[in-house]
Amino acid sequence: MNVKITTIPGDGIGPEIVREAVKVLNKVGEVFGHEFTFEEVLMGGCSIDAYGVPLTDETIEKCKAAQAVLMGSIGGKVGQSKWYELPPEKRPEAGLLKLRKSLGLFCNLRPAHLYPELKKACPLRESIAEQGFDVMMVRELTGGLYFGARKTEIVDGEEVAIDTLEYHDYEIRRIAKKAFEIAMKRGRKLTSVDKANVLDSSRLWRKIFAEVSADYPEVQLENALVDSTAMQLVRNPGQFDVVATENMFGDILSDEMAEIAGSLGMLPSASLREDSFGLYEPSGGSAPDIAGMNIANPLATILSAAMLLRYSLNLTDEADAIENAVSSALAQGFRTGDIMDEDENGLTRLHTDEMGDKIAELIRK
Ligand code: IPM
Ligand code: MG
Repeated sequence: MNVKITTIPGDGIGPEIVREAVKVLNKVGEVFGHEFTFEEVLMGGCSIDAYGVPLTDETIEKCKAAQAVLMGSIGGKVGQSKWYELPPEKRPEAGLLKLRKSLGLFCNLRPAHLYPELKKACPLRESIAEQGFDVMMVRELTGGLYFGARKTEIVDGEEVAIDTLEYHDYEIRRIAKKAFEIAMKRGRKLTSVDKANVLDSSRLWRKIFAEVSADYPEVQLENALVDSTAMQLVRNPGQFDVVATENMFGDILSDEMAEIAGSLGMLPSASLREDSFGLYEPSGGSAPDIAGMNIANPLATILSAAMLLRYSLNLTDEADAIENAVSSALAQGFRTGDIMDEDENGLTRLHTDEMGDKIAELIRK
Protein backbone atom coordinates (compact mmCIF):
# COMPACT_ATOMS: atom_id res chain seq x y z
CA MET A 1 0.00 0.00 0.00
CA ASN A 2 1.18 3.55 -0.77
CA VAL A 3 -0.02 5.98 1.84
CA LYS A 4 0.12 9.77 1.89
CA ILE A 5 0.24 11.24 5.37
CA THR A 6 0.44 14.93 6.21
CA THR A 7 2.30 15.63 9.46
CA ILE A 8 1.84 18.62 11.75
CA PRO A 9 4.72 18.56 14.25
CA GLY A 10 3.53 21.85 15.81
CA ASP A 11 5.07 23.44 18.88
CA GLY A 12 6.84 22.46 22.11
CA ILE A 13 7.54 18.74 22.28
CA GLY A 14 5.46 18.20 19.09
CA PRO A 15 8.38 17.85 16.63
CA GLU A 16 10.22 15.41 18.92
CA ILE A 17 7.28 13.06 19.43
CA VAL A 18 6.06 13.15 15.81
CA ARG A 19 9.58 12.23 14.65
CA GLU A 20 9.38 9.04 16.71
CA ALA A 21 5.94 8.11 15.39
CA VAL A 22 7.19 8.61 11.81
CA LYS A 23 10.17 6.39 12.64
CA VAL A 24 7.83 3.65 13.84
CA LEU A 25 5.51 3.97 10.82
CA ASN A 26 8.50 3.67 8.49
CA LYS A 27 9.54 0.49 10.29
CA VAL A 28 5.98 -0.86 9.94
CA GLY A 29 6.23 -0.05 6.21
CA GLU A 30 9.48 -1.99 5.95
CA VAL A 31 8.20 -5.03 7.82
CA PHE A 32 4.77 -5.20 6.18
CA GLY A 33 5.66 -3.91 2.70
CA HIS A 34 3.96 -0.48 2.65
CA GLU A 35 5.26 2.86 1.59
CA PHE A 36 4.42 5.88 3.71
CA THR A 37 5.05 9.32 2.22
CA PHE A 38 5.08 12.17 4.72
CA GLU A 39 4.60 15.84 4.01
CA GLU A 40 5.21 18.24 6.86
CA VAL A 41 3.13 21.42 7.32
CA LEU A 42 3.01 24.17 9.93
CA MET A 43 0.17 24.80 12.36
CA GLY A 44 -0.09 26.58 15.70
CA GLY A 45 2.56 28.89 17.13
CA CYS A 46 5.16 27.98 14.51
CA SER A 47 2.69 29.00 11.80
CA ILE A 48 2.07 32.32 13.58
CA ASP A 49 5.83 32.92 13.56
CA ALA A 50 6.13 32.03 9.86
CA TYR A 51 2.88 33.44 8.40
CA GLY A 52 1.24 35.52 11.10
CA VAL A 53 -1.72 33.12 11.43
CA PRO A 54 -2.04 29.79 13.28
CA LEU A 55 -3.54 27.96 10.30
CA THR A 56 -3.15 28.76 6.60
CA ASP A 57 -5.44 27.63 3.77
CA GLU A 58 -2.46 25.79 2.33
CA THR A 59 -2.15 23.67 5.49
CA ILE A 60 -5.88 22.85 5.32
CA GLU A 61 -5.54 21.85 1.64
CA LYS A 62 -2.51 19.67 2.33
CA CYS A 63 -4.39 17.91 5.12
CA LYS A 64 -7.39 17.34 2.85
CA ALA A 65 -5.15 15.91 0.12
CA ALA A 66 -3.71 13.22 2.42
CA GLN A 67 -5.27 9.94 3.57
CA ALA A 68 -4.66 10.91 7.17
CA VAL A 69 -2.99 13.55 9.31
CA LEU A 70 -0.53 12.85 12.11
CA MET A 71 -0.13 15.68 14.57
CA GLY A 72 2.09 16.48 17.56
CA SER A 73 0.84 19.33 19.69
CA ILE A 74 0.43 23.06 19.49
CA GLY A 75 0.58 26.10 21.74
CA GLY A 76 2.82 27.55 24.41
CA LYS A 77 2.51 28.82 27.94
CA VAL A 78 -0.48 31.09 28.38
CA GLY A 79 0.77 34.34 29.89
CA GLN A 80 4.39 33.70 28.93
CA SER A 81 4.47 33.10 25.21
CA LYS A 82 4.10 36.10 22.86
CA TRP A 83 1.42 34.14 20.97
CA TYR A 84 -0.96 34.89 23.84
CA GLU A 85 -0.66 38.62 23.37
CA LEU A 86 -2.67 38.10 20.16
CA PRO A 87 -6.48 38.18 20.15
CA PRO A 88 -7.99 34.72 20.90
CA GLU A 89 -8.93 34.01 17.28
CA LYS A 90 -5.30 34.37 16.23
CA ARG A 91 -3.76 32.14 18.89
CA PRO A 92 -2.37 28.62 18.33
CA GLU A 93 -5.47 26.84 19.75
CA ALA A 94 -7.72 28.69 17.29
CA GLY A 95 -5.76 27.01 14.49
CA LEU A 96 -6.46 23.56 15.88
CA LEU A 97 -10.17 24.25 16.36
CA LYS A 98 -10.49 25.67 12.84
CA LEU A 99 -8.65 22.66 11.42
CA ARG A 100 -10.96 20.20 13.22
CA LYS A 101 -13.99 22.11 11.94
CA SER A 102 -12.67 22.55 8.36
CA LEU A 103 -11.92 18.85 8.10
CA GLY A 104 -15.32 17.91 9.62
CA LEU A 105 -13.75 15.81 12.40
CA PHE A 106 -16.74 15.53 14.70
CA CYS A 107 -15.83 12.28 16.44
CA ASN A 108 -12.87 12.14 18.81
CA LEU A 109 -11.84 8.76 20.22
CA ARG A 110 -9.66 8.69 23.32
CA PRO A 111 -8.91 5.22 24.62
CA ALA A 112 -7.67 5.00 28.21
CA HIS A 113 -6.19 1.63 28.92
CA LEU A 114 -4.21 0.77 32.01
CA TYR A 115 -1.26 -1.34 30.91
CA PRO A 116 -0.62 -3.98 33.60
CA GLU A 117 3.03 -2.83 33.66
CA LEU A 118 1.96 0.71 34.57
CA LYS A 119 -0.13 -0.14 37.63
CA LYS A 120 2.35 1.69 39.82
CA ALA A 121 1.97 4.85 37.71
CA CYS A 122 -1.80 4.73 38.34
CA PRO A 123 -2.71 7.09 41.21
CA LEU A 124 -5.77 5.04 42.22
CA ARG A 125 -6.08 2.66 45.15
CA GLU A 126 -4.00 -0.48 44.61
CA SER A 127 -7.04 -2.78 44.54
CA ILE A 128 -8.59 -0.65 41.78
CA ALA A 129 -5.38 -0.50 39.73
CA GLU A 130 -5.07 -4.25 40.17
CA GLN A 131 -8.44 -4.77 38.43
CA GLY A 132 -7.34 -2.59 35.50
CA PHE A 133 -9.61 -0.76 33.05
CA ASP A 134 -10.08 -0.10 29.39
CA VAL A 135 -12.34 2.85 28.59
CA MET A 136 -13.04 4.31 25.16
CA MET A 137 -14.10 7.91 25.32
CA VAL A 138 -16.11 9.24 22.39
CA ARG A 139 -15.92 13.01 22.53
CA GLU A 140 -18.03 15.22 20.26
CA LEU A 141 -15.45 17.54 18.70
CA THR A 142 -17.00 20.18 16.45
CA GLY A 143 -19.91 21.53 18.47
CA GLY A 144 -20.88 22.80 21.90
CA LEU A 145 -19.17 25.58 23.82
CA TYR A 146 -16.08 25.43 21.65
CA PHE A 147 -17.94 26.58 18.56
CA GLY A 148 -20.96 28.52 19.83
CA ALA A 149 -21.19 32.30 19.49
CA ARG A 150 -19.00 34.21 21.94
CA LYS A 151 -18.43 37.80 22.83
CA THR A 152 -17.04 40.04 25.50
CA GLU A 153 -18.78 43.37 25.93
CA ILE A 154 -19.36 46.16 28.39
CA VAL A 155 -22.83 46.14 29.96
CA ASP A 156 -23.65 48.93 32.44
CA GLY A 157 -19.98 49.78 32.70
CA GLU A 158 -19.01 46.22 33.56
CA GLU A 159 -17.26 43.62 31.41
CA VAL A 160 -19.42 40.63 30.48
CA ALA A 161 -18.21 37.53 28.65
CA ILE A 162 -20.60 35.13 26.92
CA ASP A 163 -19.96 31.64 25.51
CA THR A 164 -22.82 29.68 23.97
CA LEU A 165 -23.39 25.96 24.36
CA GLU A 166 -25.34 24.96 21.27
CA TYR A 167 -26.14 21.49 19.93
CA HIS A 168 -28.26 20.59 16.94
CA ASP A 169 -30.17 17.33 16.60
CA TYR A 170 -27.95 16.13 13.68
CA GLU A 171 -24.75 16.78 15.63
CA ILE A 172 -25.90 14.66 18.56
CA ARG A 173 -27.41 11.94 16.35
CA ARG A 174 -24.24 11.37 14.33
CA ILE A 175 -21.96 11.14 17.38
CA ALA A 176 -24.53 8.87 19.10
CA LYS A 177 -24.46 6.50 16.11
CA LYS A 178 -20.66 6.39 16.18
CA ALA A 179 -20.70 5.68 19.91
CA PHE A 180 -23.20 2.82 19.54
CA GLU A 181 -21.22 1.35 16.61
CA ILE A 182 -18.07 1.39 18.72
CA ALA A 183 -19.90 -0.13 21.68
CA MET A 184 -21.11 -2.96 19.40
CA LYS A 185 -17.48 -3.84 18.63
CA ARG A 186 -16.48 -3.72 22.30
CA GLY A 187 -18.29 -4.65 25.51
CA ARG A 188 -21.72 -3.36 24.35
CA LYS A 189 -22.04 -0.98 27.25
CA LEU A 190 -22.40 2.74 26.56
CA THR A 191 -22.46 5.49 29.16
CA SER A 192 -23.76 8.78 27.82
CA VAL A 193 -22.51 11.65 29.97
CA ASP A 194 -24.35 14.95 30.28
CA LYS A 195 -25.66 17.54 32.72
CA ALA A 196 -29.34 16.94 32.04
CA ASN A 197 -30.33 18.12 35.51
CA VAL A 198 -29.33 21.66 34.48
CA LEU A 199 -28.74 22.15 30.75
CA ASP A 200 -31.19 22.12 27.84
CA SER A 201 -28.46 20.99 25.47
CA SER A 202 -27.95 17.97 27.74
CA ARG A 203 -31.66 17.19 27.80
CA LEU A 204 -31.66 17.13 23.99
CA TRP A 205 -28.49 14.99 24.07
CA ARG A 206 -30.17 12.47 26.38
CA LYS A 207 -33.35 12.33 24.30
CA ILE A 208 -31.48 11.68 21.05
CA PHE A 209 -29.26 9.01 22.59
CA ALA A 210 -32.44 7.25 23.76
CA GLU A 211 -33.88 7.44 20.23
CA VAL A 212 -30.70 6.12 18.58
CA SER A 213 -30.48 3.31 21.14
CA ALA A 214 -33.62 1.77 19.61
CA ASP A 215 -31.45 0.74 16.63
CA TYR A 216 -28.92 -0.96 18.92
CA PRO A 217 -30.90 -3.20 21.27
CA GLU A 218 -27.77 -5.24 22.13
CA VAL A 219 -26.06 -2.20 23.62
CA GLN A 220 -26.83 -1.38 27.23
CA LEU A 221 -27.25 2.42 27.44
CA GLU A 222 -26.76 4.22 30.71
CA ASN A 223 -27.10 7.95 31.33
CA ALA A 224 -24.79 9.61 33.82
CA LEU A 225 -24.18 13.15 34.99
CA VAL A 226 -20.77 14.61 34.32
CA ASP A 227 -19.92 15.43 37.94
CA SER A 228 -20.82 11.97 39.10
CA THR A 229 -18.85 10.47 36.18
CA ALA A 230 -15.76 12.41 37.22
CA MET A 231 -16.15 10.81 40.64
CA GLN A 232 -16.89 7.30 39.36
CA LEU A 233 -13.81 7.40 37.12
CA VAL A 234 -11.54 7.62 40.15
CA ARG A 235 -13.66 5.35 42.29
CA ASN A 236 -14.10 2.45 39.86
CA PRO A 237 -13.05 3.03 36.22
CA GLY A 238 -13.48 -0.68 35.46
CA GLN A 239 -17.28 -0.18 35.34
CA PHE A 240 -16.98 1.81 32.07
CA ASP A 241 -16.67 0.51 28.53
CA VAL A 242 -17.61 3.27 26.06
CA VAL A 243 -18.24 6.78 27.39
CA ALA A 244 -19.82 9.33 25.03
CA THR A 245 -20.02 12.99 25.82
CA GLU A 246 -20.08 16.53 24.46
CA ASN A 247 -17.01 18.56 23.58
CA MET A 248 -16.19 20.38 26.82
CA PHE A 249 -17.05 17.52 29.19
CA GLY A 250 -14.95 15.23 26.98
CA ASP A 251 -11.99 17.60 27.13
CA ILE A 252 -12.04 17.53 30.92
CA LEU A 253 -12.84 13.86 31.48
CA SER A 254 -10.21 12.70 28.99
CA ASP A 255 -7.41 14.40 30.92
CA GLU A 256 -8.70 12.71 34.06
CA MET A 257 -8.75 9.35 32.27
CA ALA A 258 -5.20 9.87 31.05
CA GLU A 259 -3.96 10.52 34.54
CA ILE A 260 -5.54 7.40 35.97
CA ALA A 261 -4.02 5.44 33.05
CA GLY A 262 -0.59 6.51 34.28
CA SER A 263 0.27 9.59 32.25
CA LEU A 264 -1.05 12.00 29.66
CA GLY A 265 1.96 10.79 27.67
CA MET A 266 0.21 7.44 27.16
CA LEU A 267 -3.15 8.63 25.77
CA PRO A 268 -3.55 8.64 21.97
CA SER A 269 -6.50 10.05 20.05
CA ALA A 270 -8.25 9.83 16.70
CA SER A 271 -10.47 12.56 15.27
CA LEU A 272 -12.76 11.15 12.62
CA ARG A 273 -15.55 12.02 10.23
CA GLU A 274 -17.95 9.68 8.39
CA ASP A 275 -15.42 8.39 5.85
CA SER A 276 -12.02 6.89 6.61
CA PHE A 277 -10.12 10.19 6.83
CA GLY A 278 -8.83 11.17 10.25
CA LEU A 279 -6.42 13.28 12.26
CA TYR A 280 -4.37 11.52 14.93
CA GLU A 281 -2.71 13.25 17.83
CA PRO A 282 -1.69 12.59 21.43
CA SER A 283 -4.30 13.92 23.86
CA GLY A 284 -1.69 15.84 25.82
CA GLY A 285 -0.37 19.32 25.21
CA SER A 286 2.88 20.77 23.90
CA ALA A 287 4.65 20.69 27.31
CA PRO A 288 6.78 23.80 26.62
CA ASP A 289 8.69 23.23 29.90
CA ILE A 290 10.43 20.14 28.55
CA ALA A 291 10.50 21.00 24.84
CA GLY A 292 13.78 20.17 23.12
CA MET A 293 15.06 18.12 26.08
CA ASN A 294 14.48 14.72 24.49
CA ILE A 295 12.64 13.46 27.58
CA ALA A 296 8.99 13.64 26.46
CA ASN A 297 7.02 10.40 26.23
CA PRO A 298 6.45 9.62 22.52
CA LEU A 299 4.15 6.65 23.22
CA ALA A 300 0.85 8.57 22.94
CA THR A 301 1.90 9.75 19.47
CA ILE A 302 3.15 6.31 18.48
CA LEU A 303 -0.15 4.81 19.69
CA SER A 304 -1.97 7.52 17.70
CA ALA A 305 -0.09 6.26 14.63
CA ALA A 306 -1.46 2.79 15.43
CA MET A 307 -4.98 4.27 15.50
CA LEU A 308 -4.23 5.88 12.11
CA LEU A 309 -3.42 2.46 10.66
CA ARG A 310 -6.53 0.94 12.22
CA TYR A 311 -9.16 3.61 11.51
CA SER A 312 -8.02 5.36 8.31
CA LEU A 313 -6.23 2.52 6.49
CA ASN A 314 -7.89 -0.58 7.93
CA LEU A 315 -4.42 -2.10 8.50
CA THR A 316 -5.34 -4.11 11.59
CA ASP A 317 -2.27 -6.37 11.79
CA GLU A 318 0.01 -3.37 11.42
CA ALA A 319 -1.85 -1.47 14.16
CA ASP A 320 -1.63 -4.55 16.41
CA ALA A 321 2.10 -4.72 15.71
CA ILE A 322 2.61 -1.20 17.10
CA GLU A 323 0.42 -1.80 20.15
CA ASN A 324 2.19 -5.11 20.85
CA ALA A 325 5.58 -3.41 20.51
CA VAL A 326 4.51 -0.82 23.10
CA SER A 327 3.34 -3.57 25.48
CA SER A 328 6.62 -5.48 25.00
CA ALA A 329 8.74 -2.40 25.63
CA LEU A 330 6.84 -1.73 28.87
CA ALA A 331 7.04 -5.40 29.87
CA GLN A 332 10.80 -5.29 29.31
CA GLY A 333 11.00 -2.38 31.73
CA PHE A 334 11.63 0.49 29.32
CA ARG A 335 10.19 3.80 30.51
CA THR A 336 10.33 7.51 29.85
CA GLY A 337 10.55 9.67 32.98
CA ASP A 338 6.79 10.33 33.30
CA ILE A 339 5.96 6.64 33.75
CA MET A 340 8.99 5.69 35.85
CA ASP A 341 8.34 4.02 39.24
CA GLU A 342 9.72 5.86 42.24
CA ASP A 343 12.20 3.12 43.09
CA GLU A 344 13.17 2.59 39.40
CA ASN A 345 13.88 -1.05 40.31
CA GLY A 346 14.64 -3.17 37.24
CA LEU A 347 13.57 -0.36 34.90
CA THR A 348 15.52 1.41 32.17
CA ARG A 349 14.93 5.11 31.65
CA LEU A 350 14.91 6.06 27.97
CA HIS A 351 15.06 9.36 26.14
CA THR A 352 12.36 10.24 23.62
CA ASP A 353 14.40 9.09 20.61
CA GLU A 354 15.55 5.91 22.36
CA MET A 355 11.95 4.96 23.11
CA GLY A 356 11.14 5.48 19.40
CA ASP A 357 14.09 3.25 18.45
CA LYS A 358 12.97 0.61 20.95
CA ILE A 359 9.41 0.48 19.61
CA ALA A 360 10.66 0.37 16.00
CA GLU A 361 13.01 -2.47 16.93
CA LEU A 362 10.12 -4.44 18.47
CA ILE A 363 7.81 -4.24 15.42
CA ARG A 364 7.08 -7.82 14.32
CA LYS A 365 4.88 -9.25 11.60
C1 IPM B 1 -7.39 18.70 23.55
C2 IPM B 1 -6.82 20.06 23.84
C3 IPM B 1 -7.51 21.08 22.95
C4 IPM B 1 -8.99 21.04 23.25
C5 IPM B 1 -6.96 22.52 23.09
C6 IPM B 1 -5.47 22.56 22.78
C7 IPM B 1 -7.70 23.50 22.24
O1 IPM B 1 -6.97 20.35 25.19
O2 IPM B 1 -7.28 18.24 22.39
O3 IPM B 1 -7.95 18.09 24.47
O4 IPM B 1 -9.44 21.69 24.20
O5 IPM B 1 -9.72 20.34 22.53
MG1 MG C 1 -7.71 18.76 26.38
